Amino acid sequence: MPNVLVTGGAGFIGSHTVEELLRIPWIDVVVVDNFHSGRIDNLRGLDRAKVMRSDIRRMKELKLDELAGIVHLAAIVSLDEAYSNPRLAVETNLIGTLNALEVARRFDAKRFVYASSVAVYGEPEKLPIDEDHPTRPSNIYGLSKLMGEQLAMRYMEDYGIEVVSLRYFNVYGPRMRSGPYSGVIHRFITSLLKGNAVTIFGDGNQSRDFVYVEDVARANVSALLSDARGIFNIGSGVEISVRELLSLICELMGVSPEVRYEPPRKGDVMRSRASYEAAKRSLGWEPRVSLREGLGRTIEWYMGSCEPRP
Ligand code: UD1
Repeated sequence: MPNVLVTGGAGFIGSHTVEELLRIPWIDVVVVDNFHSGRIDNLRGLDRAKVMRSDIRRMKELKLDELAGIVHLAAIVSLDEAYSNPRLAVETNLIGTLNALEVARRFDAKRFVYASSVAVYGEPEKLPIDEDHPTRPSNIYGLSKLMGEQLAMRYMEDYGIEVVSLRYFNVYGPRMRSGPYSGVIHRFITSLLKGNAVTIFGDGNQSRDFVYVEDVARANVSALLSDARGIFNIGSGVEISVRELLSLICELMGVSPEVRYEPPRKGDVMRSRASYEAAKRSLGWEPRVSLREGLGRTIEWYMGSCEPRP
């Protein structure tokens, strides 16, 4: 059976991608994760996946008979973490990508899906953002993702590995990362569940395009199985401000928040909205889960058996 390697497979997007891949009976899934932000619990029930603890910065020798494709998700994914530790971000997001591409080359893997980010664009010049928008990242994180993407594109030209780079917008859903580098939806939901105040950085008028994690996992699998190549945005096409997001979450949870305002975060962009027309055309991908529906499922998950971690 063909093997598919998922780096970062125990992470938030990774575990949903593994789940989606395991629906395909003729694929064997191998997960590589160093558990920096990934968690073995995220793979609960996904026993058919083979899990290896390894750091992509120093990729261990893989013992496989063959490798059909790689979904390369292992990365430093937080703007703040990349800002605090630029060496870790560049070593993971650039050198780690180099190592993953070298694995693809060594095993003659045909397909390589790279997890890129809307952060490669920087502050948008126009909305919606399509793939031709200039790339001027406004933080180290976006720069490190762009460097990895360009390296992957180089490998496609030079070594014939078929690369699809997916520029995810703001991904949310069950199993989101917890801790100091978690995203806004995780923070809002967990604070509100505990009855704590929520923090808005800046005036809250900054907007984002939130895309549900299962839609992203489907995009990863479509990209792997298609014969498309190149760069595609993966977003919902819907723009919402941080303030409006908070109102919607509060409405769904039936609570009213205590809000603290803090200065804007360094490197934060003001607006975001995806055009996903290219992904629709070439991958046959479209988002299926609306923000209201996705937030509902996410809140339910946090309230359910899986206790939110602080
Ligand atoms: C997120 C992703 C990153 C992705 C990027 C693309 C996370 C942790 N990071 O960064 O992987 O590549 O999108 O743009 O998901 N905010 C508050 N209060 C909070 C937390 C955040 O007001 O408690 C604001 C932030 O200042 C920002 C917005 O909410 O304006 C979104 O923040 P966040 O969820 O951290 O996402 P990004 O910074 O966009």
